Amino acid sequence: VGTTDRWAAWLLEHRFGGDAGQRDAAMVQLGEFRDRVLAGARVRRGDVVLDVGCGDGLLGVAALDLVGRSGHVIFADVSADLLAECRRIVDDLGHRERAAFVHTGLPELAGIDAASVDVATTRSVLIYVADKAASFASLHRVMRPGGRLSIFEPIYSFGHPPPANTFLGLDVTGLEDLAERVKDVYRRFQPENDPMVDFDERDLLGLAEAAGFDEIHLDYHVDIDVEPVRMTWSTMLHHTPNPLVPTLREALDEALIGIEREALTERLRDQLERGATRRRFASAYLTAVRS
Ligand SMILES: C[S@@+](CC[C@H](N)C(=O)[O-])C[C@H]1O[C@@H](n2cnc3c(N)ncnc32)[C@H](O)[C@@H]1O
Repeated sequence: VGTTDRWAAWLLEHRFGGDAGQRDAAMVQLGEFRDRVLAGARVRRGDVVLDVGCGDGLLGVAALDLVGRSGHVIFADVSADLLAECRRIVDDLGHRERAAFVHTGLPELAGIDAASVDVATTRSVLIYVADKAASFASLHRVMRPGGRLSIFEPIYSFGHPPPANTFLGLDVTGLEDLAERVKDVYRRFQPENDPMVDFDERDLLGLAEAAGFDEIHLDYHVDIDVEPVRMTWSTMLHHTPNPLVPTLREALDEALIGIEREALTERLRDQLERGATRRRFASAYLTAVRS
């Protein structure tokens, strides 16, 4: 399975672990991200909007409404399957003539002309890209003078690594060794220099400024709290937080033998069923103007 299929399979299926309740809850949150990124972009009628890493169209489809009949939206993604999905949605809505689909990604944005877009948006895409400086430079290149950039990214370097006695926000006190071996499986897929954890909000500011953007604003938000559980145990076993890592079931199977797996499973499940997880989550909204 190539990268393309992996992105589509995750975004369209695995991210919700096959759980409709989880999906509905996530969609509420995703809707908030979408509305805030688009508000930050100050999209106007007639604009050309580029959504980079468009996924299944969360931002791009909403942007079509904001730009109106005279505007255009360019959907760009490294996944051909996801672009096809966006095309299907846009066709169904009857907006085909106002949309373009470009199979490209960061850092290159190949095939997008210089100074060709009024707005560039991206949500949870830079976390997957190693060369963030080149990515900001490309975003700057494709935007017209006066164009608005609006970004949302989770800041996973915050609170990373998590405390030894928690795993997935659940208390594993006394079973830290077992949890550590499962965490090792995840670390193998995402080492310390992984693009997802190698930057923070200040880096985003510096990157935007270094690329030549102006009127840069960043809202940084942190939650360290107890969150009500939204997942069932089965969903937790089968979903993945991103397409690059195995499911919890796969990681447990790989790291532990039967009796160990049972001990950790029992603890995690018991903690989950108590109804709360500890959350340590940081995120940033960045807006900027191409001067
Ligand atoms: C977490 S999803 C976010 C999708 C969408 N922006 C949204 O808000 O729902 C990440 C998206 O980035 C795409 N992607 C991954 N690497 C990329 C890259 N180097 N350039 C552009 N897009 C990329 C994936 O195919 C996927 O659609």
